This record gives sequence, C-alpha cells and structure tokens, in this order.
Amino acid sequence: MCGIIGFTGKRRAQEILLNGLARLEYRGYDSAGIAYFRDDQAHVSIRKTAGKVHDLRAVCDKDNESHCGIGHTRWATHGGVSTANAHPHRIGKVSLIHNGIIENYHELCSKYDLTSTLMSETDTEVAAALFNKLYDGDPIACIKKATPLFVGSFAFCILFSDHPGEIFAIRNVSPMVATYAEGDGAFIASDLTAFIDYSKNYFIVPEYQILHMTKDGIDLQDLNGKPQEITYLSVDWDVTAAEKEGYAHYMIKEIHEQPQAIHRTIDARIKDSLPYFEDDGIPDSLFSDVSDITIIACGTAMYAGMVGKTLMQNKFGIGVNVVVASEFRYERPVISEHTLVIAVSQSGETIDTLEALWLAKKHTEKTLAVVNVKGSTIARESHYVFYTHAGPEIAVASTKAYSVQVASMYLLAAKLGLVLGKTSEDAVKEFLDGLRCVPDLIEKTLSLESRASALTKRMINAEHAFYIGRGLDYTLSMEGALKLKEISYIHAEAYAAGELKHGTIALVSEGVPVIAVATQSGVYSKVISNIREVKARGAYVILISKDRKISDKSICDIHLSIPDVRDELAVFPSVVICQLIAYYASIGRGINPDQPRNLAKSVTVE
Ligand code: F6R
Repeated sequence: MCGIIGFTGKRRAQEILLNGLARLEYRGYDSAGIAYFRDDQAHVSIRKTAGKVHDLRAVCDKDNESHCGIGHTRWATHGGVSTANAHPHRIGKVSLIHNGIIENYHELCSKYDLTSTLMSETDTEVAAALFNKLYDGDPIACIKKATPLFVGSFAFCILFSDHPGEIFAIRNVSPMVATYAEGDGAFIASDLTAFIDYSKNYFIVPEYQILHMTKDGIDLQDLNGKPQEITYLSVDWDVTAAEKEGYAHYMIKEIHEQPQAIHRTIDARIKDSLPYFEDDGIPDSLFSDVSDITIIACGTAMYAGMVGKTLMQNKFGIGVNVVVASEFRYERPVISEHTLVIAVSQSGETIDTLEALWLAKKHTEKTLAVVNVKGSTIARESHYVFYTHAGPEIAVASTKAYSVQVASMYLLAAKLGLVLGKTSEDAVKEFLDGLRCVPDLIEKTLSLESRASALTKRMINAEHAFYIGRGLDYTLSMEGALKLKEISYIHAEAYAAGELKHGTIALVSEGVPVIAVATQSGVYSKVISNIREVKARGAYVILISKDRKISDKSICDIHLSIPDVRDELAVFPSVVICQLIAYYASIGRGINPDQPRNLAKSVTVE
C-alpha cells in the first residue's frame, strides 16, 4: 500500500526521499512523487510520475539542494494510475501526501465547494483543497479545523509553502512513525524501513496529534493545543536486515532466514521444555478459563491460523473457529467473555484484522495479537501481544512470517493444552522438544532448493495447479496455493484430498500440476489413493512426503522427500518446499516475485 517519507534537516532531502521511497517499494505501488521547498525558500516544487521510483528519479533535478520535503508511493484506490492522481497534491499553499481513504470526500467537496480547484480523481486532493480553504497562515490552526471533518483513515504529511523547512503531520488509523536523529534531522514515514539507514529509534505518531517537524526537532500536540510527550521505541535489526545481502530477491533471502527467525521466536519461550510466556507479560490466567478460540486474520496469516486450529482442536480438543477478518464484521460473532480471540498479522496494520479485533473487544477481554511488527496498531490494540520475531519481511509474499506464526501457534497450543488440563507436562515437553528441532529441519529442507527449482520448469506454462492433502497437509496446502498464485499468476487451489472427487477432479486433465502433500501417517494411504486418482487422469504429480523413495510411477512424477519428522511438525519442511516452488515458478515466468502485480505488503484499506 501507499508509502510515506518526509525529511527536514541538515542533509539534502531529495536523496533521502528517493532512497526512502525505494525502501518502501516492497509495500506495492504504482506511482511516486516528491514535494520539496525549492532552494529552501517559500516555494514548493513537485515531481511525480505514474511509474516506479527509478522513473521518478529520472524526472527529478540532479542538483536539488533542498533540505526539506515529503515523498509518496501510491497504490491506487480512488482514481486510476496516472501522474495527475499521484501524490503529492498541491492546492494553493498546501502540498500534501496521504495514506488511507477519505470516505466522505464527496460530501466535503460539495459542502466546501472544492470541485473547481481539483485536477485529479483522488480523495487526497479533496483533503488538500480543504486544508487550503481553511488555511489563513497558521498551519496548526488549519489542521485543528480540518481534521475533525474527515471521515475515514488518514496519515497526512503537509507542507505549507509559506513555512519553508517545516513539515506537519496528523493521522487516524493509517500508521506513521517518526524520529529525530541528532546531526541529521527529523524523519517521518509510513514505516521504519524508509529511514532505518539513519535511525533505529522511532516513535509511533499517536492518532489525532499534530506533529510539527523542523531541522531542530519535533513537537507534538493534541487538537486542543496541549503539548504531548514523545515515547521512543527501538528495533534490534539494522539496515542489512532490510537489504538483499547478495540474494537475487528478498523473497528467497527470507525463505533462507526461516531457521533463524524460528529460533528467535521460540527459544526464549521454552523453559525446561515447557511454554514460558512470562517475559511477554502473558499470564496463565489468560488461558485458564478459555471455552473456545476465534482466530481472525487475512491471507497467509489466516492460513497460519488454520494450522493452529487443526493443531489445537485435534490434539487438545479445544474448539477453534478461524474467520476471514474482512468477513468477521458481517457475521454475528459467537463470542463470549471466555472466548480467546487471536489476531494474527505480520504487519500489525491490516485494517480488516484491526476492525475485526475492535469488534471482538466488544465481547471479550481476552484478545491476543500474534504480530511481527513491534508497536504496530494491532499489537497496541490487543489486550496481550505475542511478538513473532521474523525481522523485517520485505517481499510481498509472506514466507518467514508464516513460519513464525505457525511456530507461535504450536507454542500457544502447548500452553493452552497445559493450562486447560487437556494434556500432561510430559506430552508437552515431548511436543516442544520436537518444535525446537524445526530450524534444523528447515535447514535440511533448503538443500532441496535446486530440485524444487528444476521441477518448476514443467509448471511454468500451466494455467491451473492444485494442491491436495488431508489434515495438517490440507491447511498447509492452502498456503502453498496462495503463494503460487500471488507470485506466479498460475491459478492454484487447495483441496482436501478427499474432496476432489466431489467436483474438482473434473478440472484435472493431461499435464495439470498437482502438488500432493502426504506427510500425515494416519491418512497416508487415503491420500495416496487420491493421488492415484488424479495421476490416472493425466496430472503431473509432485509428491511431498516423508518416504525416502517412491519408485511407483503410477503415484507421482516427482517426489520430494522431506526429513523424517513427527507428523505435526511436517508443516514446516513442507511449506518451505511450497515456497520454493512458488518462487522458482515466478522466476521461470519472468515475474519479479518481490513485487507481484496489484498486491501490497501491508493492506491498510478495507
Ligand atoms: C500473502 C500475504 C498476505 C498477508 C495478508 C495479511 O503472501 O502476505 O496474504 O498474509 O495480507 O497481512 P498481515 O499478516 O500483515 O496482516
């Protein structure tokens, strides 16, 4: 989704803005622009383009000396992809960039008679027109008057052309972070990656507080003019974590980072082979009277939740409902004060998940966020937070974040099982000792990379592909199919292997790739029968299983043998293979897997 960067200080702004925008490219966007005070005087210049950051670079002045400016990458919502619709938008003395959606922009247009000043089709330009209409030379007064009039989500960064060197900002829902780096100046961005080269410290801009940045510092005040304290956070990763470090793409780098990410997520939470959440501030009382669980999440995070469900329900008999967050609000949530609601999100900013969480909080005080980004909105809005420690995930397709989410589900399942008396300490110890082996398992599985790459050659011309499995293999297959479709554009669906014959098998014809996952011993022979059914109809079958060798050609064309692990842990090596298949299919089709079309990393609009 849209990205924001702003800087005022001692350095030249243009390079900071363009580099910051390049760092934000991972979020997904279709146009880009910057605005800056020309020659640091009371005049704002704008450069923008319906293209990528390198296209923007090409239309920027090489010798731009400005020390204050704002930059934006736009992911189109209102109005198509065009230079006119790209941000920044300037009306009169106001130039601004915006993340979010102004829902009442039509009403504002007619109520404040703004239409004649507009050049684009965007809600953002309406906001610029409104700020300009209410501006009488005092930026803070203008923001105080305009802000309550907006309905929707917004993060605005604003330049007033008669206030050179100053940046003003305000937000509601849409995230924004800022920092003051001694010696450099003040930075603001939609996420920390945009200015991580300059600072590992940052603060979350609080909602409905006006931020005023100059080269000498940052002030914060509420809409009544009361000064506010700034609370800094810091991250324990540095700029290299947000770079490719020799890998061709972020995605493959992140696939390889999974063993470490899992270590970071689980090690400190297992003490004497038992789950230990004291350092997270999560008390056992959160789990002790839980009657059932609802997991809310989107996309890959939801599929991690599905694995959690299969595990918690099948192993410990705890009822779990996994709900697509964007639908949760339209269902009548069956939640009581004893329901534990788990919101799973890498970014912690997905608006659908956030809205679902807000709704859940009306029914229960037992909400737990499983979130990767420290201090993100979902983390702050939940009663408790269980951070995953994947480090920054830059590729649009989630890989390491999924694995750590799944690992977190295992830890939570163990804790729940224990606290609710559904299992014994010895059983949990055995279970978690198994979890501790997962990083090694993944390491071993990564040695199959060249085989995964080779087999995709037969897939790259496919229009459709299927993933099949039973039990945990089925839930894992859903993630495999999503990965393939989002970065290779091959239409892929996951089916419970037993369900195929109830309709979908009609789609299986000569050469259609079927990725069959058969790692669960209890249903192994049944899945093999289902595989034979598709093989007999001409499918090109890639089998993922724990068998050392499959020589029977009536079962599969390609066999990938994962390390021999307990059934419940097979998800981890299997997903790595699915990720590699998706990655190499994408490369084989000439697609950049880091930035698939139409997709954004952090989905902050509904
Ligand atoms: C797919 C993917 C998405 C996200 C989904 C939720 O690879 O990354 O499906 O999982 O948009 O995002 P978060 O986890 O940030 O809430």
